Amino acid sequence: VTATKYENVLLEENGGIATLTINRPKSMNALNSDTLTEIGQALDDVKANADKIKILVITGAGEKAFVAGADISQMKDMNPIEASNLSKLAHNSFGKIENLPQFTIAAVNGYCLGGGLELAASCDIRIASEKAKFGQPETTLGIVPGFGGTQRLTRLVGRGKAKEMIATGSMVDSAEAYRVGIAEEVVAPEELMNKVNEIASTIMKNGLIAVSMAKYVIDRAADLPLDLAIDFETQMWSQTFATEDQTEGMAAFLEKRHPSFPGK
Ligand code: HXC
Repeated sequence: VTATKYENVLLEENGGIATLTINRPKSMNALNSDTLTEIGQALDDVKANADKIKILVITGAGEKAFVAGADISQMKDMNPIEASNLSKLAHNSFGKIENLPQFTIAAVNGYCLGGGLELAASCDIRIASEKAKFGQPETTLGIVPGFGGTQRLTRLVGRGKAKEMIATGSMVDSAEAYRVGIAEEVVAPEELMNKVNEIASTIMKNGLIAVSMAKYVIDRAADLPLDLAIDFETQMWSQTFATEDQTEGMAAFLEKRHPSFPGK
């Protein structure tokens, strides 16, 4: 699947791994409303092609930026209603990332600021280049993060660190992002895509229904009381015993061979 219908993003597929590239390098891949709309449409394409696409990688075009935030030139003259609509557009598109059956990886190649960090935080994991820089600079512009930053960043790093990052608007480097739990791995810039592909390939060897269900229960149960969350896990766990993947996975182990998961 190589979709050419988009102007602000690229969607390519290779060997079951789709890559969605935010493609406005002259503006540091800033997210304007057209780009947010296209991200949503591309995610619909990824979901509709779940037979071919097993993993989604999201990255930014060019050397410098993953995404340097929402497009400030577009936001400059917005009134509160327009601001609300832009925020809802982003929530709609970013929510689709969490609701995809496929596992998602943010390949953070450079500046990951404002709406960029909010986009990355919507992915299942974040792998960062040593050159990446992370921040929520909204308060330096006189606004609050509006694409999920007060919530998803807080869930990643805890309230104190999220408040520090949002109140200061300062950037943190990759080492700090790794230390506080924003990035799961940090690698040299030239190794970023190799590392992401290695992780994607490792995941793809596993039972992908199980991966999808694990993603679902982790996200959906995260804000439930522990007893309900544990019940939810039991339900997911027991349903995996209705899959051929479970039969194959356990048979392969006992027969001392590699599993070949049918994905059903
Ligand atoms: C629009 C942007 C942009 C952005 C960069 N550009 N970020 N345009 N919106 N968020 C444009 C610049 O205006 C410039 O255009 C070109 O990209 C290159 O950027 P430079 O600043 O010249 O590059 P550099 O000096 O290397 O600095 C890179 C940078 C800086 C540190 C990333 O651009 C920066 O601070 N950007 C803004 C980051 C930010 O505040 N993001 C949060 C946005 S608020 P020209 O035409 O001059 O070449 C947000 C809120 C989300 O995301 C929720 C709201 C509802």
